[in-house]
Amino acid sequence: MHDFRYVGNRLFCEDVAVESLARKFGTPLYVYSQHTLTEHFQKLDAAMSPVNHLVCFSVKSNSNRSALRALANLGSGFDIVSGGELQRVIAAGGGPRRCVFAGVGKTEDEIEFALRQGIYSFNAESEPELQRINRVAARLKKIAPIAVRVNPGVDAYTHAKITTGTYENKFGIQFEQVEGVYARASKLKNLRLRGLQMHIGSQITETTPFEQAARKVLPLLKRLQEKYPLEFFSVGGGLGIVYKPALASGAAAWWKTSAAKNILTPQKYAGRLVPLLQPLNLKILLEPGRFIAGNAGILVTRVEFVKKTGRKNFVIVDAAMNDLIRPAFYDAYHEIVPLTRNHGVRISSDVVGPICESSDFFCKDRPLPKVGEGDYLALLSAGAYGFAQASNYNTRPRAAEILVSGKRAAVARERQPVKEIWSGEKVVSWLK
Ligand code: LLP
Repeated sequence: MHDFRYVGNRLFCEDVAVESLARKFGTPLYVYSQHTLTEHFQKLDAAMSPVNHLVCFSVKSNSNRSALRALANLGSGFDIVSGGELQRVIAAGGGPRRCVFAGVGKTEDEIEFALRQGIYSFNAESEPELQRINRVAARLKKIAPIAVRVNPGVDAYTHAKITTGTYENKFGIQFEQVEGVYARASKLKNLRLRGLQMHIGSQITETTPFEQAARKVLPLLKRLQEKYPLEFFSVGGGLGIVYKPALASGAAAWWKTSAAKNILTPQKYAGRLVPLLQPLNLKILLEPGRFIAGNAGILVTRVEFVKKTGRKNFVIVDAAMNDLIRPAFYDAYHEIVPLTRNHGVRISSDVVGPICESSDFFCKDRPLPKVGEGDYLALLSAGAYGFAQASNYNTRPRAAEILVSGKRAAVARERQPVKEIWSGEKVVSWLK
């Protein structure tokens, strides 16, 4: 659930009319609800309370420092994938000792920085990486805490570009090889075998793949526990959210359907996993990104033109695939609603951006209320992997980000000045 809803005919984020933000700060504009963000964290945290656990927010999904700070204030840990993300967490007031560092290609510099900051664990994804971490730790006269990321070979039935738990992809160490890897890693003097990690994919909307993966990995984990003093097991992230319909107040009927009853909730997730995890007597880490941030943010855009061709009604907006790439990249569905609701007829529309690519669209042939130049639309459920995957393609500045809390709204990131886009570039000397 989330805090975007119509009051009368105007879309609100908590107690703030979104249109007032669009007028004040311009568009494209990301707007986040602090209450939604923190409530999702707290619900998951509470559901997992029967086990000793730490929720490590996956920074890649939304790395705005205000979002990170709001979560750090609640005691969140962080799942990071680069030295840059670790610096961000620190700059946001988060604790390195609550950070786990994943990723298949950690550089020596990143490892050194993370070791100096004293992160909780490296989640290692290959043997050459373990050797590299050991080497850097030896040079720094430190002991590096590590976990191996086990690839359980479980299909999460999610989009091909975001599944990670099968042997077809580059992540983790194959299930059958893990014990051998721990045996060899235990001989590396500057490593401390602290835990085991898994992650099977993203936007998983059922509990079964999580349970299957856990059931497969637990016997392995128990064997490892007998040999090494492991302290934690990370079950990764991947909890899916509802993208369609995203606006509860606009789809009251849907919420009474069986589909609504099937949505993944923290209670269902914990209900299946906690009984399996409890007997381990380990600290349980979770690495959710989308579940916490996804429905906490929207992307607000303004209609520039409506263009009718013989076959199509194109609504051309000022946001584009550089602001939100998910529809172009993953065929993702984002619900699109007007900031001012009208109950008139719906017209089959393609909402598209101004970028010179056919894939620059937000929806195709979708029945939408009639809109005209200057009207505002919101793309919902854009809080995770929205701004975080934005780019400057077509020399388009990155959008501004606003955080709302109750009646308050403040700039969490200023709109990028155009000149900043090329500020690091040079016209090389021989061309002058
Ligand atoms: N842990 C690891 C090791 C991961 O690779 C990921 C996401 C997460 C945690 C967090 O997953 P989440 O809870 O957010 O599902 N850009 C794509 C999603 C890519 C996910 C990458 N890994 C999208 O927009 O759908």
